[in-house]
Order: sequence, then C-alpha cells, then structure tokens
Amino acid sequence: MTLRFLLALAALSTAAPALAQTPAGGDSGGGVVRVAKPVTGQQVYEAVCQACHMADAKGGTGAATIPALAANPRLAGAAYPITLVVKGQGAMPSLSGNLDDSQIAAVVTYVRTSFGNHYAKPVTAADVAKIPHPAKSSGH
Ligand code: HEC
Repeated sequence: MTLRFLLALAALSTAAPALAQTPAGGDSGGGVVRVAKPVTGQQVYEAVCQACHMADAKGGTGAATIPALAANPRLAGAAYPITLVVKGQGAMPSLSGNLDDSQIAAVVTYVRTSFGNHYAKPVTAADVAKIPHPAKSSGH
C-alpha cells in the first residue's frame, strides 16, 4: 500500500510536467516526493488519495480496510477530513509533509463536493492551518 502510494506521488511529478514546478532536486532526498503545485483538488485526489480510497472513492479491503469517502456523512464537518489528511490516523498516513495547506484545502473541498457529497462550503488553507501539523519528518 505504501509503495503504491509513493508511486502515485511520483507519477504526479513525472506524468504532469506542465504542472510540475518542483525545484531541481526537490524530489530526490531520501525518496521523499513533493507534489508540485499548482494542482486542483481533483489532481491531488487522483495522485494521492485514489491509490487507497479508489477512483470511485468507495474504499476497499486489502492490506488495510479503507473507508469509503463517497456519500460519507463524516465529511459534513470540514475539521474531520482536514485532520485525517494533516495528521493521519491508523493505516492512513499523515500527508502534510507531501501536500501544502492549499493543496490539502483543495482536496478536502473536492472530496466534500464529489462522490455524492454535497458539503459546498469551500475549505481554505487558513482552515487547514488551524489544525496542528505533525513535525515534519527528516529528509526535507
Ligand atoms: C495509504 C493509504 C491512504 C491514502 C493515500 C489516503 N488515505 Fe484516507 N484513509 C486511509 C485509511 C486506512 C483510513 C482509515 C483510517 C482509520 O480510521 O483507521 C482512511 C480514512 C480517511 C478518512 C476518514 C473516513 C471516515 O469515514 O472516517 C478521510 C476523510 C480520508 N481518509 C481522506 C483522505 C484523503 C482526502 C486523502 C488524500 C489526500 C487520503 N485519505 C489518502 C488510507 C489512505
């Protein structure tokens, strides 16, 4: 699962050169891949979340049980999905080392307004900044 996830991140920076503005060497140290910006919430979803939550956001069962994001009432409040992405939980990794606050805001807005969810209020980078971020891992 983790490998698949890292490959998905790597695919974004190589498969979308028009979007990739990663500084030279930015994705080399320790194999840590940064998602280049700007990207839309949908692009972040497809590059990062889809590997686990699946293209239809219905989740699945494999090495870990992945909850569906589709038609998920737990997305009604923005703080919960923001917290999951920023901090991780259980088998879901913290993604705040790979995504900046505006990218997290974009993807949380995307999942809250897609896949049968209709929570229209956009999430902002300021909303994301309010959630305490874990210390950055080494290698950055
Ligand atoms: C490496 C696999 C993986 C990736 C990548 C991943 N998730 Fe998750 N996600 C999980 C797992 C596993 C859980 C269940 C966590 C738990 O509670 O144990 C989860 C839970 C969630 C939940 C809570 C769902 C609920 O009903 O409680 C949300 C919201 C969520 N993820 C959003 C995202 C978003 C948005 C992204 C992309 C930015 C993402 N996830 C990327 C594996 C992943």
